[in-house]
Amino acid sequence: MPSLKWRSLAVVCAVASAAASVLVATPAQADGPLRTHAAERGKFIGAALATGPLANETTYRNIAATEFNQVTAENAMKWDATEPNDNQYSFSGADQIVNFATQNNQQVHGHTLVWHSQTPGWVQGLNATNMRAAMNEHIATVVGRYANNATVVSWDVVNEVFNEDGTFRQSFWFNTLGQSFIADAFRAARAADPNARLCINDYNVEGINAKSTAMFNLVQSLRSQNVPVDCVGFQSHLAIQFGFPNDIQQNLQRFANLGVQVRITELDIRMQNPRNAQKDTTQAQYYTNVINACNAVTACAGVTIWGFTDRYSWIPDTFPSECCGLIYDNNYAQKPAYTAVHNALDGGTPSDTTPPTTPGTPTASNVT
Ligand code: XIL
Repeated sequence: MPSLKWRSLAVVCAVASAAASVLVATPAQADGPLRTHAAERGKFIGAALATGPLANETTYRNIAATEFNQVTAENAMKWDATEPNDNQYSFSGADQIVNFATQNNQQVHGHTLVWHSQTPGWVQGLNATNMRAAMNEHIATVVGRYANNATVVSWDVVNEVFNEDGTFRQSFWFNTLGQSFIADAFRAARAADPNARLCINDYNVEGINAKSTAMFNLVQSLRSQNVPVDCVGFQSHLAIQFGFPNDIQQNLQRFANLGVQVRITELDIRMQNPRNAQKDTTQAQYYTNVINACNAVTACAGVTIWGFTDRYSWIPDTFPSECCGLIYDNNYAQKPAYTAVHNALDGGTPSDTTPPTTPGTPTASNVT
């Protein structure tokens, strides 16, 4: 069934056929929220959410609910949040995010199961046998908790396993277990939820380079061994002073050709202080470019922005001389980047011929 937008256009064109050569039809949803336009393309547009403002700020909650049809927990599903002590689980923050998403017909992407960062010291000090057991048990428990919850459709199973030169990061995981921890983690996740889409996620892999090629080779190798890797996440923490990875579409497509889903998982586009109009324009163009790349690749499921308001962003904490990577400013005003995302989702003809899905009504059965 054609979407509302295209049926409306057909009516407009029929009525105005005499003037068809000069008619510029206005899309029916021109002023709609981002999620409406993404859904018309069969894509998601998401945001990473933080539990504090979600509990405490009405404006934050309203924008998160209205504009996005997908959610990632910025921190609440990480190991230090979910299992701070051995076999002592805490799901209050994770459940808060999942319940919010359920109430607002949004999908949740679980982030993240096995990472070198934000993992408690008790895990890092284990010997190989115990570390492997702890990893498998953690995955079974965390993924298992949401296995029958239709809101949680996918997981970042392993995060950031590569160095920039494409060698494996010398993390405590790698140093203790060797690269086999990666395949083991995916198998444990598949066992815990056979219907969840399982992703490997990293940064600086948006363009074609040594790191993304190492990722490509690993995914190809794992899949040839029947390791259940379904998806590759491209974090996309970009910065305008570093230039845009202009081969991003080509890179997404080469991964798609392996048979995996691709997704932009943590998009933000920072700039050096101070923010100004010219930098905002460049930033908006970068946002356009990323959305266009995902639009152009059928296997690209969607784009998650790493937050949505500059009021709550990891950027100033992590990159002290940089700021302002998101699509709303500190006071929840929409920036040029918001308009860019809106128009890239709304404009033009969808290249993706997948029928539009009803926004935010994921079921576990349609995600494999
Ligand atoms: C960041 C969060 O945004 C911060 O709040 C936290 O203090 C550190 O982690 N790659 C990832 C994310 O996979 O989990 C990170 O999130 C950003 C980099």
